[in-house]
Amino acid sequence: MKILAIDTSCDDTSVAISEDRKIIANVFWSKLKVHNDWGGVVPTEAKRQHEEFLPLAITAALEEAKLQLEDIDYFAVTYGPGLAIALEPGIDKAVELAKMYNKPLVPVNHMVGHIYANLAQDANRESYSSIKEFDLPSLALTISGGHTDLFLFEKNLKFKKIGHTLDDAIGEAFDKVGRLLGLGFPAGFKIEQLALNGNPDRFKFPRPLHNTNDFNWSYSGLKTAVLYEVNKLLGTYQKDIQKGEIKFGHSTSALSEQDINDIAASFQKAAIDALLIKVEKAVKQYAPKMLIVGGGVIANQALRTAMEALCEKYKLKLTYPKPMWLCTDNAAMIAATAYFLIKEGQVISEQSKFESVERVPNLEIS
Ligand code: KG4
Ligand code: ZN
Repeated sequence: MKILAIDTSCDDTSVAISEDRKIIANVFWSKLKVHNDWGGVVPTEAKRQHEEFLPLAITAALEEAKLQLEDIDYFAVTYGPGLAIALEPGIDKAVELAKMYNKPLVPVNHMVGHIYANLAQDANRESYSSIKEFDLPSLALTISGGHTDLFLFEKNLKFKKIGHTLDDAIGEAFDKVGRLLGLGFPAGFKIEQLALNGNPDRFKFPRPLHNTNDFNWSYSGLKTAVLYEVNKLLGTYQKDIQKGEIKFGHSTSALSEQDINDIAASFQKAAIDALLIKVEKAVKQYAPKMLIVGGGVIANQALRTAMEALCEKYKLKLTYPKPMWLCTDNAAMIAATAYFLIKEGQVISEQSKFESVERVPNLEIS
């Protein structure tokens, strides 16, 4: 079966085509002017960009797959979670195409997509991760700009949430610390690069909630601790050079390169430690067959290495999508997920029901 999938959950306009779960086309159009001065996404601009780029991305994906729209059997689309008005153009386009070509529509949860990205296959039908199938029961961890959630994954496409962040997501913490250091948006990758030359033990940042008896996280206090250290450093510099006010966004020009690298390395270590303390607790309690990870933050090599060490300790199989583009937002994961939803009959075939597919910005996994 041929599936065309669309993801417009945030600032990337993504279209992919798969044959079953083999990805045969994958197109991204991203980020023209959709970010404001503070690094946030401007929703109206994101929507406008999606509307402009979707037709182009669809044409490019069809060319890459050497297919026509008539050849597509299913149209899949992310309906949440995501930015409300960014989701809309994706849903509208998928509904329009499913109607026009009289094919079923497959609504997909973006976060389930991050997990099922692990089962997407390349041109040789080799998995993009280290596994071919999920061994259940497992633990699934989603770590992105909007989510830090842990699930007990007992049956195909069925998840029970056992942990979540009480405030900021881990990716959001990377982005906020990045903003503080004037690194632009998103900042995860840049912090990782700076951390390579930094001392992770110079600053003693907290591991919030490390000793609570649950599987929850909190990243907002960590960000505040970083702000406090930057403040202290800037205070020193101000006194030294007798200068006026220094804005945080410009702190890169006021802090030394070594200070910035050390902050990045110390923050990254604290963020990873805090994450793994709760993952380890859950591994001990649930004795899962696998630890399945998805979401933009698992692009981070230091985190991958730390997770591998943890799973080695418990002789546990670890899996995450290996290519970076399959960790961050993409439509290939939506196509792969749609394949499994279709196998379970979770599609909408009647045109009269297409309009019932609405954006759900806070969609949960259930
Ligand atoms: O999954 P994703 O692309 O979008 C959401 O669904 O949110 O995740 C984006 C997040 C951003 O916060 C970004 O800073 C973070 O993933 N990220 C990273 C890295 N690459 C992306 N965080 C840490 N290290 C990285 N290498
Ligand atoms: Zn995402």
